Amino acid sequence: MVTDLNSNYTSPAGKEFSFASARFAGINPSSKVLDLGCGYGDASCNLAAEFRCKVTAVDISTENIAYARQMAVERNVSHLINFVNADLTTLDYSETPFELILMEGGILSFITRRKGLSVASSWLGRGGWVSFSDLILLTEQIPDEILNIFEHDRFDYENEQSYRNLLDETGFDIHFMSLVPPSGWDNYYAHMARRLEDSSGFFADKQIKMAFHKEIDVFYRLEAYRYIGYLFCIARKKTKL
Ligand SMILES: C[S@@+](CC[C@H](N)C(=O)[O-])C[C@H]1O[C@@H](n2cnc3c(N)ncnc32)[C@H](O)[C@@H]1O
Repeated sequence: MVTDLNSNYTSPAGKEFSFASARFAGINPSSKVLDLGCGYGDASCNLAAEFRCKVTAVDISTENIAYARQMAVERNVSHLINFVNADLTTLDYSETPFELILMEGGILSFITRRKGLSVASSWLGRGGWVSFSDLILLTEQIPDEILNIFEHDRFDYENEQSYRNLLDETGFDIHFMSLVPPSGWDNYYAHMARRLEDSSGFFADKQIKMAFHKEIDVFYRLEAYRYIGYLFCIARKKTKL
């Protein structure tokens, strides 16, 4: 069921999850939020519009940052968001910590999870919050076609228990953890299907169109949601006594 036809998230969690993260973290107009791998900027714009907080939004893709900037202008929140076009692994915000760091859409799998969580911890103030969404394996017996389409060879996905262990080891207490509901996947793929109509930019490329067509086909035909899930988590940096 598609519940958000206007979603510009390129991941299955979406707006409600970004809002939940900000509510847990008590985000308000004096707060500073960091959105790592901001993509088209939906989460940054949603938080700036709803909470009037200051957001720093980082993405390695010049095209995504340009799109996100334009969206912020259209939504009248451009004065609240500082867009940074950079590889986040080259940045250091430890001297100017944040209250909440968003890592939505598998960015932890892109930059390696232990390192990503450790870096996030060092960029958070005392008792700061992190929220992330990422693909996980739900069972050990998974059809190869599904593992291949989500590039398990490359990303070596966690399961819920191993992610819980990782959060504990990197100094976080979990306050909320759940799988994204089916509508989250439907909103994501509805957005991707819309983008496959693009005649310029990333989704205009024939190989990209074919890859996403194939992913959507495998996901629904093999009922991939029975084997893989999208884990959403809100966690707080442990405070040392
Ligand atoms: C799957 S998208 C998720 C985008 C957004 N967070 C969302 O949920 O809609 C992952 C994003 O991470 C960005 N990205 C990947 N590696 C990165 C890196 N090393 N530094 C900054 N951004 C990166 C990509 O360009 C892409 O926009």
